[in-house]
Amino acid sequence: MSDILDASSVLEVLRPVQDPELRKSLVELNMIRNLKIDDGKVSFTLVLTTPACPLREFIVEDCQKAVRQLAGVKDVLVNVTAETPQQKGLPDRTGIAGVKNILAVSSGKGGVGKSTVAVNVAVALAQSGAKVGLIDADIYGPNTPTMLGLADAKVTVQQTASGEILEPAFNHGVKLVSMGFLIGRDQPVIWRGPMLNGIIRQFLYQVQWGELDYLIVDMPPGTGDAQLTLIQAVPMAGAVIVTTPQNVALLDSRKGLKMFQQMGVSVLGIVENMSYFIPPDLPDRQYDIFGSGGGEKTAAELGVPLLGCVPLEISLRQGGDRGLPIVVADPNSASAKALMAIAQRIAGKVSVAALA
Ligand SMILES: Nc1ncnc2c1ncn2[C@@H]1O[C@H](COP(=O)(O)OP(=O)(O)OP(=O)(O)O)[C@@H](O)[C@H]1O
Ligand SMILES: [Mg+2]
Repeated sequence: MSDILDASSVLEVLRPVQDPELRKSLVELNMIRNLKIDDGKVSFTLVLTTPACPLREFIVEDCQKAVRQLAGVKDVLVNVTAETPQQKGLPDRTGIAGVKNILAVSSGKGGVGKSTVAVNVAVALAQSGAKVGLIDADIYGPNTPTMLGLADAKVTVQQTASGEILEPAFNHGVKLVSMGFLIGRDQPVIWRGPMLNGIIRQFLYQVQWGELDYLIVDMPPGTGDAQLTLIQAVPMAGAVIVTTPQNVALLDSRKGLKMFQQMGVSVLGIVENMSYFIPPDLPDRQYDIFGSGGGEKTAAELGVPLLGCVPLEISLRQGGDRGLPIVVADPNSASAKALMAIAQRIAGKVSVAALA
């Protein structure tokens, strides 16, 4: 180690410091930038791979500890920012300009909480500072507009040389497009197959998305046309499968999971929803209605990571109905905390996949 306090000696002591999620050196990952040394004061920018990094304090501490080993250091200032890496494309898929990572939230079975998870994860990522979009791919029963407080929103359509471009609605930091914006509230959608394909492609390519770190697609239940259209159109960063602890749901999840894996989309993990019940009048109580440890068991049985377990909480449903997602309405509730941790885990896995 050299005795002179200069950029190369600082980088040398920082080299062994790793990003715990990526398990690689911060220096090798080019996460240390704008390094300056002024009269014993060392300052640099730490560029994380997601604003939703739960370990930022630990990484900063590790950096400071490492740099303080050097003689002559009086202070270490770390300015933290994030740059989400872009998912690698596939040769036969057309990405969306400006959109770095496209994620599907899916399940084999209906009503397990896909939309609830998709909306809250999207809002949690936006709260951490990420640029987030959400596609409601449930053409026949769109309900994310209500959940995101956009039930009365209208999207504007611009005529351009390359066709119609939709301006997404925006609330709680998330841009949203949904069939709900294009039809009357009580008007049922009667279109089928080819039409659905067209609408999903329009939601991907003919929307003014701008720059996005994460574009989350809330899928309709099952393993049907919407999933196929999405997987065949764009390069995917991965899929998140939502399940509930019951055996039937588990069987369906296995089907959903297989479909993504067979089509070469990595399954980032499963979210077990409605894992246990928290009564509103006894918030410290927890009832394991389906038995405990279900989430772990489910993940092990399906052979994918468990991203987290979300309890059954009345306020979570109420938040959805009122258009105030629980991560906004009551961030200290057990379900909000679980959903925020899930959002961070998803972001971490996306970074790992993009930099692999
Ligand atoms: N953990 C939970 N606690 C309480 N209520 C929940 C929870 N998860 C979901 N819900 C409620 O259950 C209902 C179904 O959830 P949601 O619409 O998210 O499921 P879905 O899988 O998207 O359904 P679909 O298959 O129809 O798209 C909603 O009313 C929602 O508010
Ligand atoms: Mg849904």
